[in-house]
Amino acid sequence: MRRSRLRQAGVSRLELRCGTVSDPRESFKDAFGDWPTLVSEAPGRVNLIGDHTDYNELPVLPIALAERVRLWLRPREDGRVRVGSADFPDAPESFDLGDPIEPRGSGDWRNYVRAAATGARTVLPDGVRGLDGWIVSDLPPASGLSSSSALVVAVMHALLELNGAGLGRLEVAVLAARAERFVGTQGGGMDQAAALCGRAGHALLIEFGPLRVRPVSVPSGWCFVVAYTGTPAEKSGRAQREYNERVASCRAALDRMGEAIGVDRALSYPALLAQAALPDLLTVAARVLEPRHLARFRHTVTEATRVRAAVQALEEGDPGRFGRLMSESHESLKGDYGVSTAELDRLVTVATTAGAEGARLTGAGFGGSIVALAGPSALDAVESALRQAVSEPMADTEPRPGARVFPARASNGAVVRDAAPGDPAAPAANG
Ligand code: GLA
Repeated sequence: MRRSRLRQAGVSRLELRCGTVSDPRESFKDAFGDWPTLVSEAPGRVNLIGDHTDYNELPVLPIALAERVRLWLRPREDGRVRVGSADFPDAPESFDLGDPIEPRGSGDWRNYVRAAATGARTVLPDGVRGLDGWIVSDLPPASGLSSSSALVVAVMHALLELNGAGLGRLEVAVLAARAERFVGTQGGGMDQAAALCGRAGHALLIEFGPLRVRPVSVPSGWCFVVAYTGTPAEKSGRAQREYNERVASCRAALDRMGEAIGVDRALSYPALLAQAALPDLLTVAARVLEPRHLARFRHTVTEATRVRAAVQALEEGDPGRFGRLMSESHESLKGDYGVSTAELDRLVTVATTAGAEGARLTGAGFGGSIVALAGPSALDAVESALRQAVSEPMADTEPRPGARVFPARASNGAVVRDAAPGDPAAPAANG
C-alpha cells in the first residue's frame, strides 16, 4: 500500500532511506536517483517584540536565526514538483505545477509545499520548471520559530529563481505571506519578511502597508536566548481556530472604533493610531467595545507602541528598557490576548529570576517558545536555569523530548546557492 502510493508519487526509493542518512545529498540521491545541484535555504525567526500585530499592519521586531530549512534540489523541466523529507518519512509530496492544487487535510506539512507552489504559479508563465527537493531542517517544527514559513519561502524562492521570475525580496515576502494562507491560517507577513530579509548581527524593524524592512544593529553583549517548551503550537492544526479568532476580533474591534470616531471608510490600524493619542483611543475603546474585543484591541495598540520604544532602546543600547518592554509584552499577550500557557509563563519567570533583563513568549503562542534578553554577566545563569526548567516538565505534563535552549544568532536571510560537494550544511554568514 505504502510502496504503491510512493510509486504513484514517482518517489520510488524514498522509503528505503528515510531517517537513516545524515548527508542530505546522499538522501536526495537515494530518493530521486541523482545528485542535487542547488540548495534553497530559509531561516526561522525569533520575534523579539511585536506579536499579533503584523496582521493588523502594525510593526514587529524579529531576528532571522541561524537555524533554517534547507531544500536540497534539482530542477525538472517538466513542471513536476516532488518533495520528501527524512522528518516525514511516509509523506512525499508530488504534483504538477500546471494542475489544480487542492489543500490536503488540516495540519499536513505538505500543504506548505503546495502553498509555495500556488503562490509561485501566480507570477510564472505556463510550462515552468519544477523540482525534486529534499528538506532538512534544524528548526523544531511548530516551536513558534517559524519553521513552516521558512519551508514556504525555501520552496517558493527556489521555484522563482529556477524560472527567472526576477522579483525583489520584499515582493517575494509579500507573495509568500499571501500564499501561506492556503493552509487556512490568516497570518500576517512577519515570518516571510524575516526569512527573506534577515541580516547578520541585526534585528529587523518590519512595517506593513506597504512592506518595509529596516535592519537595526544588535549591540554587542546583548544575547537573546530562546527556550522551546517542547510543546508544539500547531498553528496549521490545533491553534488555527484560536489564531483566526484573534484576527477576526481585531478586525471587528477596528470596525467598531471606526464607527465610534466617525470614519466610515475602511480604516487600518496605522490610520487609526494616527487619528488620536493612545490614551484617548483606549478611552473610546473602553466605552464602545465588548470586553473580549476591548482586550484584543488593547494588546494590539499597546504592543505597537512597545515595538517603537524597543527599537529606540536597541538604538540607544538600553537593555534594561528593552527587557522591561519584553516583559510588559508578555503580560499583555497573556492577559489581554490569551495566547500564553502555564509552561510559557513558567519559563518567562525562570529567565527573569535568573537575571534576564526581560522575557516573553515569541510568535503566536499556544505553546512554542520564549525569548529572553541576557547581558554578559547573567547569560550563563539564564541559560542554565532555562535548561534545567525545560528538562523538568511541570507536574501535570508529559516529558517533552524536543525541548531545547539556544542562543539566537541574528543571521542572513534566504538564499539559493550551489549544492557544493563537501558542504552539506554550511550556514549562511552569521553575526
Ligand atoms: C505567527 C504568524 C505571524 C504572526 C505571529 C504572531 O507566527 O505566522 O504572521 O502573526 O504568529 O505575531
